[in-house]
Amino acid sequence: MTDALLTIEDLHVSYRGHESTAHILDGVDITIGRGQSVGLVGESGSGKSTVAFALLGLLDGNAQVSTRRAAFDGREMRFGVDETRALRGTDIAMIFQDPMTALNPMFTIGTQLVDIQRRRFPRESRNRLWGRAQAMLVDVGVPDAAARMHRYPHEFSGGMRQRVVIAMALLVEPKLLIADEPTTALDATIEAQVVEVLDRLRQRTSASMLVISHSMGLIAELCDSVIVMYAGTVVEHGPVRVVFSRPRHPYTRALLACEIDPYAAFDPSQDLATIPGTVPDPARRPQGCIFASRCPARHDRCNERPPRRQTREGRTYSCWQEAA
Ligand SMILES: Nc1ncnc2c1ncn2[C@@H]1O[C@H](COP(=O)(O)OP(=O)(O)O)[C@@H](O)[C@H]1O
Ligand SMILES: [Mg+2]
Repeated sequence: MTDALLTIEDLHVSYRGHESTAHILDGVDITIGRGQSVGLVGESGSGKSTVAFALLGLLDGNAQVSTRRAAFDGREMRFGVDETRALRGTDIAMIFQDPMTALNPMFTIGTQLVDIQRRRFPRESRNRLWGRAQAMLVDVGVPDAAARMHRYPHEFSGGMRQRVVIAMALLVEPKLLIADEPTTALDATIEAQVVEVLDRLRQRTSASMLVISHSMGLIAELCDSVIVMYAGTVVEHGPVRVVFSRPRHPYTRALLACEIDPYAAFDPSQDLATIPGTVPDPARRPQGCIFASRCPARHDRCNERPPRRQTREGRTYSCWQEAA
């Protein structure tokens, strides 16, 4: 695909321990088109943040990372090395779950919003950068932006802090914006407001987005396509409307059954009910289908690795069960 901003084929991440090796990502493929918004969904521990961290070169030093192929903005890349780290804060910006990860408690918001732009716009005056920052705060819905520029992070509420972090990410005009559980730390009403801000920005900026969440509702709201991850593998991938209205993989079905209806009015308080059973130990991954031990439709065939099937609507899924 020529107009992809990001292509990753067969991403593996593992951590070698004393006795065994934990395979956290086992052959993940991701493509994000320019201006496209892709959701990454799966239970906690499925490896979503690991994907983001691999992209940003933020994995722990002992992580082993490999890909068959990776390219960003038309350039071949190797992940987890300086090349990818150089993209951070310019071509790729990240919004974390906890806004304080991105904010320094010692400096005013204004100073931080100016400093973040320096690498991107080294020749602009402080005045210009200050003006851009203030305008961006207005854009993300921070009231009284001119005065707030002089305040410190602790003087903001959680929701306002996350808006500041979104402004911070957008000020560098990234080609890719990664939001890792951007609203999980917020309470329900504030969460809905932040989703609204992200949705508005998505329609306005040309940036691509990778939205990571365990909430199908949030993904339905913000994304064009969705990647469903289970235990470090992609089990289903396709346009949001196709995957959510006619899920093929039993795991996607189970996830959706836990959340009432992703197209119903967005209710962020809906949390993932538990699917019976547990995720396989990353150090002892089964030979066959990764979901078999928890799958209601399991049969003998599932002891072998399932094929990746394609349906006409542009969706792929990995399961022995053929589409009805
Ligand atoms: N440094 C590490 N060493 C070993 N395992 C790790 C390390 N970092 C993360 N993991 C494991 O990787 C798995 C996936 O984690 P993560 O990507 O954070 O999942 P998610 O974001 O989907 O909740 C978890 O089982 C976690 O324990
Ligand atoms: Mg995570």
